[in-house]
Amino acid sequence: LRLGVLASGRGSNLQAIMDAAAAGKIGAEVAVVISDHSDAYALERARQRGIPAEFVNPKSFGSKEKYEEVIVELLKRHGVELVCLAGYMLVVGAVMLNAFPDKILNIHPALLPAFQGLHGQEQAWRYGVKFSGCTVHFVDEGVDTGPIIIQAVVPVLDDDTADTLAARILEQEHLIYPEAIKRFAEGRLKIVGRKVFTKKLSS
Ligand code: GRF
Repeated sequence: LRLGVLASGRGSNLQAIMDAAAAGKIGAEVAVVISDHSDAYALERARQRGIPAEFVNPKSFGSKEKYEEVIVELLKRHGVELVCLAGYMLVVGAVMLNAFPDKILNIHPALLPAFQGLHGQEQAWRYGVKFSGCTVHFVDEGVDTGPIIIQAVVPVLDDDTADTLAARILEQEHLIYPEAIKRFAEGRLKIVGRKVFTKKLSS
Protein backbone atom coordinates (compact mmCIF):
# COMPACT_ATOMS: atom_id res chain seq x y z
CA LEU A 1 0.00 0.00 0.00
CA ARG A 2 1.46 3.33 -1.04
CA LEU A 3 1.19 6.05 1.60
CA GLY A 4 1.33 9.80 1.26
CA VAL A 5 2.11 11.55 4.55
CA LEU A 6 1.21 15.19 5.13
CA ALA A 7 3.10 16.78 8.01
CA SER A 8 3.57 20.39 9.09
CA GLY A 9 6.20 19.99 11.77
CA ARG A 10 8.61 17.73 13.63
CA GLY A 11 7.37 14.50 12.10
CA SER A 12 7.78 12.00 14.92
CA ASN A 13 4.66 10.15 13.79
CA LEU A 14 6.02 10.14 10.24
CA GLN A 15 9.18 8.59 11.66
CA ALA A 16 7.21 5.87 13.44
CA ILE A 17 5.34 5.12 10.22
CA MET A 18 8.53 5.05 8.12
CA ASP A 19 10.25 2.79 10.67
CA ALA A 20 7.34 0.35 10.80
CA ALA A 21 7.08 0.36 7.01
CA ALA A 22 10.82 -0.20 6.50
CA ALA A 23 10.71 -3.08 8.99
CA GLY A 24 8.00 -4.70 6.86
CA LYS A 25 5.53 -4.55 9.74
CA ILE A 26 2.56 -2.75 8.16
CA GLY A 27 2.28 -3.84 4.54
CA ALA A 28 2.80 -0.28 3.41
CA GLU A 29 5.51 2.07 2.21
CA VAL A 30 5.80 5.85 2.36
CA ALA A 31 5.74 7.03 -1.25
CA VAL A 32 5.90 10.77 -0.62
CA VAL A 33 5.94 13.26 2.24
CA ILE A 34 4.39 16.68 1.70
CA SER A 35 4.55 19.69 4.00
CA ASP A 36 3.00 23.13 4.02
CA HIS A 37 6.13 24.38 5.83
CA SER A 38 9.46 24.52 4.00
CA ASP A 39 11.40 24.09 7.26
CA ALA A 40 9.35 21.18 8.64
CA TYR A 41 11.70 18.62 10.18
CA ALA A 42 9.38 15.98 8.72
CA LEU A 43 10.78 16.81 5.25
CA GLU A 44 14.32 16.27 6.53
CA ARG A 45 13.34 12.91 8.05
CA ALA A 46 11.92 11.81 4.69
CA ARG A 47 15.02 12.90 2.78
CA GLN A 48 17.23 10.96 5.21
CA ARG A 49 15.28 7.88 4.16
CA GLY A 50 15.50 8.71 0.47
CA ILE A 51 11.76 9.32 0.32
CA PRO A 52 10.51 12.15 -1.94
CA ALA A 53 9.87 15.21 0.21
CA GLU A 54 7.87 18.09 -1.20
CA PHE A 55 7.07 21.54 0.14
CA VAL A 56 3.89 23.08 -1.21
CA ASN A 57 3.25 26.63 -0.06
CA PRO A 58 -0.47 27.20 0.59
CA LYS A 59 0.15 30.92 0.25
CA SER A 60 1.17 30.55 -3.41
CA PHE A 61 -2.39 29.81 -4.46
CA GLY A 62 -5.45 31.99 -4.69
CA SER A 63 -7.68 29.50 -2.91
CA LYS A 64 -7.69 26.42 -0.73
CA GLU A 65 -9.18 24.48 -3.65
CA LYS A 66 -6.25 25.35 -5.94
CA TYR A 67 -3.76 24.43 -3.21
CA GLU A 68 -5.45 21.08 -2.60
CA GLU A 69 -5.61 20.34 -6.35
CA VAL A 70 -1.83 20.56 -6.40
CA ILE A 71 -1.55 18.32 -3.34
CA VAL A 72 -3.90 15.75 -4.91
CA GLU A 73 -1.94 15.86 -8.16
CA LEU A 74 1.30 15.19 -6.28
CA LEU A 75 -0.23 12.35 -4.28
CA LYS A 76 -1.67 10.72 -7.41
CA ARG A 77 1.60 11.13 -9.28
CA HIS A 78 3.27 9.12 -6.53
CA GLY A 79 0.57 6.46 -6.71
CA VAL A 80 -0.69 7.18 -3.21
CA GLU A 81 -3.55 4.96 -2.05
CA LEU A 82 -3.86 6.13 1.56
CA VAL A 83 -3.18 9.63 2.90
CA CYS A 84 -1.89 9.94 6.47
CA LEU A 85 -2.08 13.28 8.22
CA ALA A 86 0.67 13.43 10.82
CA GLY A 87 0.72 16.77 12.55
CA TYR A 88 -0.75 18.44 9.46
CA MET A 89 -2.06 21.75 10.69
CA LEU A 90 -4.48 22.66 7.89
CA VAL A 91 -8.11 21.58 7.75
CA VAL A 92 -8.69 19.17 4.86
CA GLY A 93 -11.19 20.48 2.31
CA ALA A 94 -13.57 19.02 -0.24
CA VAL A 95 -11.00 18.64 -3.02
CA MET A 96 -8.85 16.24 -1.01
CA LEU A 97 -11.82 14.45 0.55
CA ASN A 98 -13.38 13.81 -2.86
CA ALA A 99 -10.09 12.62 -4.33
CA PHE A 100 -9.48 10.19 -1.42
CA PRO A 101 -12.87 9.14 -0.06
CA ASP A 102 -12.45 7.21 3.21
CA LYS A 103 -8.76 7.12 2.41
CA ILE A 104 -7.44 9.85 4.69
CA LEU A 105 -6.38 9.13 8.28
CA ASN A 106 -5.45 11.49 11.09
CA ILE A 107 -4.01 11.14 14.58
CA HIS A 108 -5.28 13.33 17.38
CA PRO A 109 -3.57 13.60 20.81
CA ALA A 110 -6.72 13.15 22.93
CA LEU A 111 -9.57 10.71 23.37
CA LEU A 112 -12.06 12.01 20.81
CA PRO A 113 -14.65 13.40 20.86
CA ALA A 114 -13.11 15.15 23.88
CA PHE A 115 -10.64 17.96 23.34
CA GLN A 116 -10.87 18.41 19.59
CA GLY A 117 -8.78 21.02 17.82
CA LEU A 118 -5.40 22.37 18.76
CA HIS A 119 -3.38 21.30 21.82
CA GLY A 120 -5.54 18.34 22.80
CA GLN A 121 -3.03 17.22 25.42
CA GLU A 122 -2.97 20.59 27.17
CA GLN A 123 -6.74 20.94 26.97
CA ALA A 124 -7.12 17.57 28.73
CA TRP A 125 -4.49 18.41 31.34
CA ARG A 126 -6.12 21.77 32.13
CA TYR A 127 -9.56 20.18 32.32
CA GLY A 128 -8.33 17.79 35.00
CA VAL A 129 -9.27 14.47 33.45
CA LYS A 130 -7.64 11.40 35.01
CA PHE A 131 -7.14 9.59 31.73
CA SER A 132 -6.41 10.86 28.28
CA GLY A 133 -4.83 9.34 25.20
CA CYS A 134 -4.87 9.47 21.44
CA THR A 135 -7.12 8.59 18.54
CA VAL A 136 -6.57 7.50 14.94
CA HIS A 137 -9.62 8.28 12.84
CA PHE A 138 -10.81 8.67 9.28
CA VAL A 139 -10.95 12.28 8.18
CA ASP A 140 -14.30 13.79 7.25
CA GLU A 141 -15.35 17.38 6.58
CA GLY A 142 -15.23 18.31 10.26
CA VAL A 143 -12.21 18.90 12.50
CA ASP A 144 -11.34 15.73 14.44
CA THR A 145 -14.85 14.35 13.93
CA GLY A 146 -14.43 11.34 11.62
CA PRO A 147 -15.03 7.64 12.41
CA ILE A 148 -12.65 6.31 15.07
CA ILE A 149 -10.32 3.43 14.20
CA ILE A 150 -8.14 2.96 17.31
CA GLN A 151 -7.68 4.75 20.63
CA ALA A 152 -5.06 4.31 23.33
CA VAL A 153 -5.51 5.44 26.93
CA VAL A 154 -2.89 6.84 29.30
CA PRO A 155 -3.25 7.99 32.92
CA VAL A 156 -2.88 11.62 33.91
CA LEU A 157 -0.67 11.76 37.01
CA ASP A 158 -0.79 14.37 39.75
CA ASP A 159 2.70 15.58 39.02
CA ASP A 160 2.19 15.80 35.26
CA THR A 161 2.66 18.97 33.33
CA ALA A 162 1.04 19.42 29.93
CA ASP A 163 4.42 18.44 28.48
CA THR A 164 4.94 15.22 30.46
CA LEU A 165 1.40 14.18 29.60
CA ALA A 166 2.00 14.97 25.92
CA ALA A 167 5.14 12.82 25.97
CA ARG A 168 3.22 9.87 27.47
CA ILE A 169 0.52 10.27 24.81
CA LEU A 170 3.08 10.56 22.00
CA GLU A 171 4.56 7.14 22.83
CA GLN A 172 1.12 5.65 22.23
CA GLU A 173 0.62 7.67 19.04
CA HIS A 174 3.71 6.01 17.63
CA LEU A 175 2.18 2.59 18.31
CA ILE A 176 -1.41 3.05 17.21
CA TYR A 177 -0.81 5.00 14.00
CA PRO A 178 1.23 2.23 12.34
CA GLU A 179 -1.27 -0.33 13.67
CA ALA A 180 -4.20 1.54 12.10
CA ILE A 181 -2.36 1.74 8.77
CA LYS A 182 -1.62 -1.97 8.95
CA ARG A 183 -5.30 -2.77 9.45
CA PHE A 184 -6.21 -0.54 6.50
CA ALA A 185 -3.54 -2.17 4.34
CA GLU A 186 -4.91 -5.59 5.20
CA GLY A 187 -8.34 -4.44 4.03
CA ARG A 188 -9.79 -5.12 7.46
CA LEU A 189 -11.43 -1.77 8.25
CA LYS A 190 -15.14 -1.54 7.64
CA ILE A 191 -16.95 1.75 8.14
CA VAL A 192 -20.60 1.45 9.15
CA GLY A 193 -22.05 4.88 9.79
CA ARG A 194 -19.92 6.41 12.53
CA LYS A 195 -18.40 3.07 13.52
CA VAL A 196 -15.28 1.39 12.27
CA PHE A 197 -15.05 -2.37 12.72
CA THR A 198 -11.81 -4.29 12.36
CA LYS A 199 -12.45 -7.58 10.64
CA LYS A 200 -10.62 -10.62 11.97
CA LEU A 201 -7.73 -11.86 9.86
CA SER A 202 -8.99 -14.77 7.82
CA SER A 203 -6.67 -17.74 8.10
C1 GRF B 1 0.94 14.88 17.38
O1 GRF B 1 0.73 15.13 18.75
C2 GRF B 1 -0.34 14.53 16.70
O2 GRF B 1 -1.22 13.83 17.52
C3 GRF B 1 -0.91 15.87 16.37
O3 GRF B 1 0.20 16.66 16.02
C4 GRF B 1 1.37 16.15 16.65
C5 GRF B 1 2.36 15.86 15.56
O4 GRF B 1 3.60 15.46 16.08
N1 GRF B 1 -1.90 15.76 15.32
P1 GRF B 1 4.71 14.91 15.11
O5 GRF B 1 4.94 16.00 14.04
O6 GRF B 1 4.21 13.65 14.48
O7 GRF B 1 5.91 14.70 15.93
